[in-house]
Amino acid sequence: MKNWSHYSWEKILTADGSYSLKSLVSNSESHESEIMHHRGGAHSETFLVYGRILEPLFAAHKNPRFLSLGLGLGYIELLVAQKAFELGREDDFYLVSYESCPELVEYFLSEIEKSLHGNQASKTNLWVTNSDQTEAQAPALTQTLIDEALIDQTHADQTQINEISQTYENVFSFYPDQVKQILFKAYQQKRWVIYPALTQVTVVPFLIHGFLWDAFSRKTTPELWDEDFLKSFISQSLDKIALPIGFTTYACNGPIKRALRACGFDVQEQKGFHGKRQSLMAWLK
Ligand SMILES: C[S@@+](CC[C@H](N)C(=O)[O-])C[C@H]1O[C@@H](n2cnc3c(N)ncnc32)[C@H](O)[C@@H]1O
Repeated sequence: MKNWSHYSWEKILTADGSYSLKSLVSNSESHESEIMHHRGGAHSETFLVYGRILEPLFAAHKNPRFLSLGLGLGYIELLVAQKAFELGREDDFYLVSYESCPELVEYFLSEIEKSLHGNQASKTNLWVTNSDQTEAQAPALTQTLIDEALIDQTHADQTQINEISQTYENVFSFYPDQVKQILFKAYQQKRWVIYPALTQVTVVPFLIHGFLWDAFSRKTTPELWDEDFLKSFISQSLDKIALPIGFTTYACNGPIKRALRACGFDVQEQKGFHGKRQSLMAWLK
C-alpha cells in the first residue's frame, strides 16, 4: 500500500469549471502522476458515470447501501446525497467510502463542516477523533496510521493545504447546503463511514447494493483491477442481499468485465465520458 506521505497534490481546473486533483505518487521505483478525473469535467464525469445507478437503487431498496472507491474529492458522496435529497430520501442511505490518503479524508471533513457552519477554520479532526468507532469496524485503521495522519498534518506544507482547501471549496460550490447537510448528517449518524485503503483483505462493513468503482487506473493501482481480487471482493456481498445490485465505473477493461460476468452480472458497455471509448455499468437482477 502506498503511504499518503508519498503523495503530493496539484489542483487542476477541468472544462466544466470544476476542480480535480493530480497526484504525484512517488515510490522507490517510479514517479507516477495521475489526475483524478477527466479534464473534460470532474463534476460532469462523476454525474454521468456514477449517477446512472443511483436512482434505480433508491427505487428498488428501502435503505440502499453504496460503496465508493475512493473518496478523492467526494464528488460521488455528494452525488449520493444529492440523489437522496431529490427523492426525499435524506436519511435512507448507507455509504462506505474507502480512501488511502488520510489527508484527503481530514480535509474533506473539515472543509465540509466549515462550509456548513461558517468560516471559522476549525480543524476538527473528525476522522481521527471518531477513530474508536472506525477502528472497531475496520481493523485496517491502525494506531500507526492515525499517528502518521496527526504528525503529517502538523508538518503539512502550507501550499499543499491551500491547494486542497481551495479545491474542496470549489467542489462544494456545485452543491446546495441541504445536500452537504445530508452528507454531513449521515457521517455523524454513522450511516456514512470512511475507511482507509481498500486491499485484498478488506471485508465490507455491510452488504452492498451499489458499487461506485472510481479507483485510479490499472497502471497506478493494478491490484484494484485484478480479476481474481474483483471476483472475490464483489462476490462477498452477493448471496445474502436483496437484488438488484449495480456496479458502475469509468473504465471498461477485460478483468472487470470478466469478474462481473463470473459473479452473474449483466455487463453493459456504456458510452465513455467526453470522447473516452467506453465505460461500464453492470446489473445483477
Ligand atoms: C480517481 S480518484 C477518485 C475520485 C473521487 N471518486 C472523487 O469523487 O473525487 C481515486 C482515489 O482513490 C484513492 N486510492 C488509491 N488507492 C486506494 C485504495 N487502495 N483504497 C482506497 N482509495 C484508494 C486515491 O487517493 C484517490 O483519491
